Amino acid sequence: MDGNDLSNLEKCLLQSEALHQYILETNVLPKEHELLKKLRAETKARIPKRALMNVPPEEGQLLSIILKVMNAKRTIEVGVFTGYSLLATALALPEDAKITAIDISRECYEIGLPFIKEAGVEHKIDFIESDAVPALDKLVHEVREDELFDFAFVDAEKSSYWEYHERLLKLVRVGGLICYDNTLWLGTVAHPPQQDVPEFINSVREAVLKFNEKIAADTRIELSQVCIGDGLTICRRVV
Ligand SMILES: C[S@@+](CC[C@H](N)C(=O)[O-])C[C@H]1O[C@@H](n2cnc3c(N)ncnc32)[C@H](O)[C@@H]1O
Repeated sequence: MDGNDLSNLEKCLLQSEALHQYILETNVLPKEHELLKKLRAETKARIPKRALMNVPPEEGQLLSIILKVMNAKRTIEVGVFTGYSLLATALALPEDAKITAIDISRECYEIGLPFIKEAGVEHKIDFIESDAVPALDKLVHEVREDELFDFAFVDAEKSSYWEYHERLLKLVRVGGLICYDNTLWLGTVAHPPQQDVPEFINSVREAVLKFNEKIAADTRIELSQVCIGDGLTICRRVV
């Protein structure tokens, strides 16, 4: 089994594929921004085996509404890939907003960049090519108290989520949100490890289970576990 081939997997927690299709067709896809559609299509054409890594459109729309409702101006993204969630964020934020976007590799970001440019939102993005932990450590040293972030979206190395969390609690203001993607990991968190899946599915499952247990016990945040896409944990910093 090709461990890099995600093309047969389905990032949908709904038990009915028909219901998922209904939701997509009735109100998600008609409202998806044209350039987000194009970025998603380009990702599928250029790297079909990994295209599943883009957040699904229904999740992009949820992030967009959250960002607008909270009037976010300063955000962090950890795990950019070809930039679906990044473009959804950049489209939702006002003209003078800033997104600090971190990814260990710039290669996939370059695939989405033409669509970000066409949308006229590139000026909002500061892309940092780096392993996320040292990049976040640097930000913790640099960012002043009055420059703290309103919102963070985390979608990188699942085994490092807790390390990101400790740093993001210093970077996101009290009352701000930190959202963790893939926290239901294709629904595998509710079942024993499976035999007939690529090895990384089970190893990431272990990491996600540990993270979910720790975050549920963390008194510095309140949270909501949302069953959208692959599972999104929305945390609000309270202290
Ligand atoms: C699931 S993808 C992100 C998808 C993206 N949010 C989207 O909607 O298109 C995960 C990304 O995390 C990046 N990544 C993995 N390990 C990382 C690390 N240690 N530091 C920074 N980025 C990392 C990968 O290069 C990959 O681009």
